[in-house]
Amino acid sequence: MALSTSSVITLKINGEKYTLPVDHRTTLLDALRERLDLTGTKKGCDQGQCGACTVLLDGRRTVACLQLAVAAEGREITTVEGVADGEQLHPVQQAFLDLDGYQCGYCTPGQICSAIGVIQEHAAGWPSAVTDDIRPEAGPPPLTADEIRERMSGNLCRCGAYVSIVEAVARAAEAGTDTSTAAAARISPEAAAEEAVA
Ligand code: FES
Ligand code: FES
Repeated sequence: MALSTSSVITLKINGEKYTLPVDHRTTLLDALRERLDLTGTKKGCDQGQCGACTVLLDGRRTVACLQLAVAAEGREITTVEGVADGEQLHPVQQAFLDLDGYQCGYCTPGQICSAIGVIQEHAAGWPSAVTDDIRPEAGPPPLTADEIRERMSGNLCRCGAYVSIVEAVARAAEAGTDTSTAAAARISPEAAAEEAVA
């Protein structure tokens, strides 16, 4: 019996449901861009190296080029199109705008989604590779430029706008990014604690 190579799936993206047939090999990135016209998410390397395709899956950062669309069914997918609250930009978007955190803008959607994840992960107490004291009781480390650079290191910018990107992430974090938007990385303290000891 020949096995089926395609399925009809329903993806929940930015609060909307989309039902579509997909070949099982279709990545989430291609489903977003080529099938659903959600072209805010960019394709750079298409092999998990550049971060241009970063989206939030159940509030966690992920590169959509390494995620199969069929595996994203049932998850909450947030793309850059879904981070603003109507006409009100997300605080991370506003900070990128105010501080010129971009040049050509190609990497910017991925940078913004990643930055939203960074701020939430940091607030939840997740350590990074440059955190000095990783004991849970130490709490979140100061979100220094080194911490931001490390945590954003999966997002490359060919224009080299890194200085402004770091400043924008710091400003958005200081401003107390609104966690009630669709873009909020919904990481429970329990999940954060589990991740911290994993
Ligand atoms: S396009 Fe996905 S990481 Fe580069
Ligand atoms: S702003 Fe051009 S690649 Fe980052």
